[in-house]
Amino acid sequence: MTLASKYGNVCAVLGGQWGDEGKGKLVDILAKEYEIVARGTGGANAGHTVYIPDPKNPTQKKKIVFHLIPSGILYPHIKEVIGNGCVVHIPTLFEEIEVLKQNDIQVEGRLFLSDRAHLVFEYTKLVDKIQEERKGSGKVGTTGRGIGPAYSDKINRIGLRVHELLDMVTFEKKFRARIENLQKMYPELQYDFEAEIEYYKKIVDQIKPLIIDSASYLNEQIAQGKKILLEGANAALLDIDHGTYPYVTSSNATIGGLVAGVGISALKMTSAIGVMKAYCTRVGSGPFPTELDNEIGNKLRETGGEYGSTTGRPRRCGWFDAVASKYSVMLNGYTCINLTKLDVMDDLDTVKIATKYLHKGKELTAFPASIEILSEVEAVYEEMPGWKQSISEARTINDLPENARNYVKRLQEVLGCPIEFVGVGIGREQMALS
Ligand code: GDP
Ligand code: IMO
Ligand code: MG
Repeated sequence: MTLASKYGNVCAVLGGQWGDEGKGKLVDILAKEYEIVARGTGGANAGHTVYIPDPKNPTQKKKIVFHLIPSGILYPHIKEVIGNGCVVHIPTLFEEIEVLKQNDIQVEGRLFLSDRAHLVFEYTKLVDKIQEERKGSGKVGTTGRGIGPAYSDKINRIGLRVHELLDMVTFEKKFRARIENLQKMYPELQYDFEAEIEYYKKIVDQIKPLIIDSASYLNEQIAQGKKILLEGANAALLDIDHGTYPYVTSSNATIGGLVAGVGISALKMTSAIGVMKAYCTRVGSGPFPTELDNEIGNKLRETGGEYGSTTGRPRRCGWFDAVASKYSVMLNGYTCINLTKLDVMDDLDTVKIATKYLHKGKELTAFPASIEILSEVEAVYEEMPGWKQSISEARTINDLPENARNYVKRLQEVLGCPIEFVGVGIGREQMALS
């Protein structure tokens, strides 16, 4: 059975924890069998890593990190959409297109941008920085990509959208009005915005061929029986409603956000795959009940290369948090899970799973809304023996050594969701299937 026939014509891939679980790698693997990949949320805060055989030296792997472009573009048959729910910084998009060109990957006629997506400007990014500075020790630790201010403008109904680039006169008027207004709120917001206006006038003809009514396009493609992957960005615990607010991103990174962000009915989805690391990581501030501020945490960081794909910041590492992950299973209703980076735990003597939270000695019955409570919880662990051998050659879950299989099986039981993919290395081929 092919993966596309198993997961159906409209398959979503979603981050199940605090981001960087390995969504890019799974989308890249699935894209071989699909025809279109669409992003529906977030912006260049996402960093999705894919390793491909180096065209100049096929024995070596080459790393490509996507921020705005959906991960499937490496396959020439794939068409891609940056959906209406995304917030887009055009110069960053062009930089990514340039990197692809340098790797002999052409995007002309294959990459489309929703006319309804919101634009991120230099001012959006500067406001992100100013707001973080003003928060001082309470800062969120954002990626600095202008995400919060872009979504605030959208919700405040003062944002500029992609279609506005098709009418530069109105665009310029709205842009100037926005700057004027922002400078009243943030006197420190000073930069050469005239140069930015000129930039958009200069590149508008390059951007025009990319702009489409993306919801109509995607729905037409579905009606024609095309196979579509929806690539989630960020993750469930960073979701603006359901995550560890206020230490979250500014969009709905759960399944509902993705549905709204591409304009496809939820009833058309055929599957949703949750991507979860075999341990947990988090970049930026906010509570993290299973954090390992010790040698084991450092070992996971170094072995797993846990440094942010977007900002290079060291990722905080900890044991698998089944309480938080089960909450994400509930929110997203995953068809199955891709457990990733199990190989990173190969050397550990024992592995732990947090199955309960205690607060002031009492077990919590649900993932708490209050970050004060979440910061105070004590994680209760189940400990299991490690497998102490390399699993990088496993291609089915049955190939895994017994202790690794038991760990996967126990996670599956605790989460109440089948684990159908297990990541055993960075390469496309390094995925053990059920
Ligand atoms: P994303 O944001 O969810 O796409 O994840 P990132 O790309 O930010 O971070 C995941 C990192 O883990 C990337 O460097 C991937 O190449 C790497 N990765 C993904 N799956 C595996 C795996 O199964 N094993 C190992 N060792 N690395 C993996
Ligand atoms: P991918 O798609 C990990 C985190 C930031 C910060 C918070 C808010 O690669 O999994 P923002 O810039 O969105 O306002 O930052 O959210 N964050 C991510 N962490 N992976 C991501 O995306 C993230 N996107 C946002 O570190 O704590
Ligand atoms: Mg990432």
